Amino acid sequence: MKIAFFSTKQYDREFFDRVNKDFGYEIVFFESRLKDRTAPLTKGFDAVCVFVNDEINAEVLKALNEAGVKLLLLRSAGFNNVDLCAAYYNKIRIARVPAYSPNSVAEHAAALMMSLNRKIVRAYNRVRDGNFSLEGLVGFEVHDKKIGIVGTGKIGVCFAKIMLGFGAEVLAYDPFVNPELERLGVKYLPLEEVFKMSDVISLHVPLIPETQHLINEGSIKGMKKGVMILNTSRGALIDTSAVINALKSGQIGSLALDVYEEEANIFFKDLSGQVLQDDIFARLLTFPNVLITGHQGFFTDTALLHIAQTTLSNMRDFEHGALKPGNEVTCDRLKLKTDCGRPCGRADKQVNP
Ligand code: NAI
Repeated sequence: MKIAFFSTKQYDREFFDRVNKDFGYEIVFFESRLKDRTAPLTKGFDAVCVFVNDEINAEVLKALNEAGVKLLLLRSAGFNNVDLCAAYYNKIRIARVPAYSPNSVAEHAAALMMSLNRKIVRAYNRVRDGNFSLEGLVGFEVHDKKIGIVGTGKIGVCFAKIMLGFGAEVLAYDPFVNPELERLGVKYLPLEEVFKMSDVISLHVPLIPETQHLINEGSIKGMKKGVMILNTSRGALIDTSAVINALKSGQIGSLALDVYEEEANIFFKDLSGQVLQDDIFARLLTFPNVLITGHQGFFTDTALLHIAQTTLSNMRDFEHGALKPGNEVTCDRLKLKTDCGRPCGRADKQVNP
């Protein structure tokens, strides 16, 4: 079986080559993203393997179908970059890595929170420069603060436990209450209440139509003045322009991002020798109370190994006609098949599913 890998870096090759010794697939690594212009490269492959910023839209899926591709392997948990309807109509199955290491992202969110709160980056730069002044470095104690978690799935649960370890009061919103967290003392409240009461708000929800721009001008107004916001989930959960206005007014006290709405053109590349073209992102970088990392929440050795093992196991399960239900992504899972309201693969309906 032949698999074409897109958006690959040296670390992908290293971990997949290591794990593939047990599977023996024929793998070709491409550095470029999968999009309409690179889709023809998939001709003759049985499967393609992609990451979060590949664009798996209806056009690409049609091209994959024509190239003979039968399976789309996601090296991620999130699948917001895939047109699920179009995949269905083009007879392409999809498998993801539902949980490669939720601790990796939760721990990164905690690291961002503490670095931002205790101004570690500013302090580090000052000390290296021989400046030992503490002016402007005052932080807060997380102990007894109210930490609001939106989305208590796999990552949200890990983050909640870390925050409980700090002695924080943890508030949460999720359509599904987690009884274990409740037993540990987490208080589930309506979303507006979590926004209103929290000193820190951390987002751990998938990007779906209902969560797009969850943080917007209106919701920000309902938050505590000076709130800290953490987003390690998906960039488009936040309306970045609204957040910039709120940072300027002081309504948002600080912001840490591991994801950005328009990250596809920026993240995972070395652009240090180039002029940054994204003015909104450039504005974010000017704030002393904004800390940004380039989508590295998942980036631990444990997670990379799990991603490689699960991805190649998905390939093997597909070969044996037994994709795991929790790993397979279908339109039905999100009830989007008939009423997602997005332009999608319906144009390809002539391809019988
Ligand atoms: P999960 O599927 O285990 O949990 C998501 C939770 O969100 C579920 O409990 C669900 O009920 C809840 N939810 C759904 N809609 C909601 C809404 N409207 N309001 C509140 N809660 C809602 O997902 P997991 O593994 O915890 O991942 C969360 C997100 O983290 C992923 O969707 C992905 O976008 C992001 N992620 C980021 C990574 C990074 O490197 N920064 C790596 C992996 C995931």
